[in-house]
Amino acid sequence: MTFIEVRDLIKIYYTKEYNVRVPALRGIELEIKEGEFISIIGPSGSGKTTLLLVLAGMAEPSAGYLRVGDVRLDQLTDDSRSLYRRFKVGTLWQIPNRNLIWEISILENVEIPMRLLGVPREKRIKDAKELLSEVGLSKRYMHKPSQLSGGEVQRAGLACALAHNPILLLADEPTGELDSKTAGELLRYFKELNETHGITAVMVTHDFDVAKSTDRLIQIVDGRISGYSPTEKLKTIRDMHHVYLDRYGGIQLPRHIVDKLKVRREILIEEEDGKIFMHQNDKNNMKKAKK
Ligand SMILES: Nc1ncnc2c1ncn2[C@@H]1O[C@H](COP(=O)(O)OP(=O)(O)O)[C@@H](O)[C@H]1O
Ligand SMILES: [Mg+2]
Repeated sequence: MTFIEVRDLIKIYYTKEYNVRVPALRGIELEIKEGEFISIIGPSGSGKTTLLLVLAGMAEPSAGYLRVGDVRLDQLTDDSRSLYRRFKVGTLWQIPNRNLIWEISILENVEIPMRLLGVPREKRIKDAKELLSEVGLSKRYMHKPSQLSGGEVQRAGLACALAHNPILLLADEPTGELDSKTAGELLRYFKELNETHGITAVMVTHDFDVAKSTDRLIQIVDGRISGYSPTEKLKTIRDMHHVYLDRYGGIQLPRHIVDKLKVRREILIEEEDGKIFMHQNDKNNMKKAKK
């Protein structure tokens, strides 16, 4: 079943001070299944964080269709969007102090979202301890974030993100400040929680190695989906042979192919027996290329 459905999603930032409009998402089309763990990869400034913010209900889409579970995010008022954000979504950010309060223990941190839901104290403590042991921190309940290592802090953040039992887990470059070994460890816990809790998860990263540990990888370039691929068998980003054909017939070619093109404005295209051929020069060359 499709859990997240995004159609022609557009997000334009408007900066009043300079009277400029920046198109950050330019017609995103996306479907994510329930329980799937996907990664969104793309260069800096391509719209990864914006897509996550819109999915999190932290930014209003400018246009398009956006459904998460049975919530139509494109139709929500500001008030109902903030309720959605608070109760339905768990987030994990790159910068640890966005995930945790520094002055209190990680147990108390994980308890806070439960407290907001009115969970009784005993159950809160029991559930928070369980979540923390699920991220390998069973002996560290009473420690404050400052007493933990970088990887442990992110794992505590992960427990915190799941404390209110959200329907969607969103992470923005959660391994950005970790070395590769510690990053791998966090991802293993992430994947395990995604599976045991059956929670749909979307992780943004610019690191291919990190993206590879998820079920499916989606590439975003200049605010549009350019490619997608299951991650098994994917050795490098150049192995991404699937591109997304949107409802209007639009395709965004992968960046590594675009970089090789000499002519960018017009290309020749031919279809034969279900195969599509594209060519930069003349048609004769294309016939030759097919042989
Ligand atoms: N609050 C904002 N106001 C104006 N422009 C923004 C804002 N946030 C992001 N942008 C612009 O939108 C584009 C996409 O940004 P972002 O989603 O942060 O990309 P990424 O996370 O892939 O680096 C960039 O051009 C960025 O400068
Ligand atoms: Mg970003």
